[in-house]
Amino acid sequence: MEKNPKKTFYITTPIYYVNDVPHIGHAYTTIIADALARFKRTAGYDVFFLTGTDEHGQKVEKAAAERGLTPIQLADKVVVRFRDLWKELEISNDDFIRTTEPRHEKGVQKLFARLVEKGDITKGQYQGWYCPGEENFLTEDIPLQADGCKICPDCGRKASAVTEETYFFRLSAYQRPLLNHYEKHPEFVRPQSRMNEVMSFVRGGLKDLSITRTTVKWGIPVPGDPAHTVYVWFDALNNYMTAIGYDWNPALFAKFWPADVHLIGKDILRFHAVFWPAFLLAGGFPLPECVFGHGWWLKDEAKMSKSKGNVLDPGVLIRAFGPDPVRYFLLREIPIGHDGNFSHEGFIHRVNSDLANDLGNLVHRTMTMIQSYFQGVLPEPGEETASDAAVGKDFDRLKDAVRGHFEACNINRGLEEIWVYLGTVNKYLADNAPWKLAKDPALRPRLARVLRQAAAAIRGLSFLLYPVMPGSAAKMWDFAGETDPLSSRTYDDLRFEDFAPGRKMKPPVPLFPRVDLKEFLAEEARPAGPPPAQTAPPAPKTEGPMDIINYEEFARMDLRVAHVLKAERVEGAKKLLKLQIDIGTEQRQIVAGVAETYAPEDLVGKKFIVIANLKPAVIRGVESQGMLLAAVVDDKASIPFFDPIVPAGAKVK
Ligand code: MSP
Repeated sequence: MEKNPKKTFYITTPIYYVNDVPHIGHAYTTIIADALARFKRTAGYDVFFLTGTDEHGQKVEKAAAERGLTPIQLADKVVVRFRDLWKELEISNDDFIRTTEPRHEKGVQKLFARLVEKGDITKGQYQGWYCPGEENFLTEDIPLQADGCKICPDCGRKASAVTEETYFFRLSAYQRPLLNHYEKHPEFVRPQSRMNEVMSFVRGGLKDLSITRTTVKWGIPVPGDPAHTVYVWFDALNNYMTAIGYDWNPALFAKFWPADVHLIGKDILRFHAVFWPAFLLAGGFPLPECVFGHGWWLKDEAKMSKSKGNVLDPGVLIRAFGPDPVRYFLLREIPIGHDGNFSHEGFIHRVNSDLANDLGNLVHRTMTMIQSYFQGVLPEPGEETASDAAVGKDFDRLKDAVRGHFEACNINRGLEEIWVYLGTVNKYLADNAPWKLAKDPALRPRLARVLRQAAAAIRGLSFLLYPVMPGSAAKMWDFAGETDPLSSRTYDDLRFEDFAPGRKMKPPVPLFPRVDLKEFLAEEARPAGPPPAQTAPPAPKTEGPMDIINYEEFARMDLRVAHVLKAERVEGAKKLLKLQIDIGTEQRQIVAGVAETYAPEDLVGKKFIVIANLKPAVIRGVESQGMLLAAVVDDKASIPFFDPIVPAGAKVK
């Protein structure tokens, strides 16, 4: 990534299909983009970070039909899952675009009309092999069988030869202009290996591209010819311009276009590095600076996909560990261009060794010593020795190195260097043993010096770690006595030396508890826990000691508004009702011990709070996927109900 003279930086993720809920692969792209966006802000850039959802096309149409929903109903449900996940992961996107928004649909139609006018889009006949199973045209390179037919490579079924009226984009005319652009801008596609792949594809010749469908109804109609629907990729790629004002906010568009980085998975490289720049050249728009194709996260050495049944839900890890360990692991474990195999063992090893031991211990013991030996305020430190000064000099070198690595998208290299420095600071503390210095009152200035060097290092580390672990970094920043928000600091105004005595430092809280691998795996493998109480356990007696929990513990609960669709008694259990509920993203069944206070018909249509992420349990032979909240007085339940206007699925916090 080159330094942008405008000092603006526009980064995008792919927009995710709403035919299914998000998994770790989607989270990975968005986390990389977030780390780069946060880094660029700390490097002084005016950043625009975009993500969103791809809501049109056959996949969504089909998935909705399978669930008995209209496409927009499905999109409205799934988009909540993406938005919630990004919130949980502390993603700092500046906008979120849905391709069903008018600002997008109008922009796509405008560009389409512009290319028709230029003669780059024309109507014709498409002859191809169509797979009814996959609802897709086969690519040309698939060979004919002996019987003159083609077989779909995805489902193995026979495809049928069809002729369809379609609009073509004159891709063939852009072969030379694209090659010229690649030659002039060798960093247009990164990493280099992907650039080579793209160039050899384009050198092999480009055929005109069919960019409308008459067989798909769920999409943007072709302007003036509504029997045709714009092909989902032509539609989707344009989000990068329609989100930042193409056709509705010229000033915003002029400020941020062209994009600096389109971050994508390698699966969609061709669309971004060949088709998209060709559409842009045809429209007369400047091309993005860089298309960065990252690698895949694999599970059991295969790409995660729903059909293989090997997808990982990032929510499970986030709820168990918080967002930062998940962000750290995905960014640290592999260089951005490579594939990586996800394993729980690998994840927990990193949490324990890098986060709990190396970083967490350093922060905790330094900050605790500052509290216990100096009540949180360090006095003027004693003279600086060469080894004290090295902590500062090494930090200055580290700061430049990390900046260079992050600038070049080498986040894992930056993290590796940060951990080398962490090792030297831990060694510095061990060598100087402040806990021993504390025993001799004459050595107070020396003790203050050692703790000052360590605290300044922690403050500096929090700045460098902020793009990767924003929440934990902000805590470290706060422990070190900073009062302005960490996010407002930049590389130019963060200096190791600016760490004057007299600042009030805060008592630390543990950042990363250690995890027992065996316990975690056993917990994961446990089919269904012991049946939970059918309603929440009674509150602790007010006269007894309250069991205080911290916010993170509370935040692990996914509390949501549930809407009761159906209610019936559980046979043979006089206290239990079986309820079918809508929690916004899906329908579920729960069993609740409220039958002595409520008849089934009292609850239908009502809205109350459920814990949606409670492990499912089987109660009297009936599965319960969650639990409702109620007060229990003398064994009778009383449920707090919501006003009917509160939507099902709304978060309760
Ligand atoms: N809707 C299109 C993109 C349109 S962009 C104009 C699409 N959507 S998708 O939901 O299938 O998401 C694709 C992206 O998710 C990939 O390009 C990649 O960024 C990310 N990943 C999906 N699975 C992944 C892995 N297993 N590993 C890493 N990233 C992966 O394609």
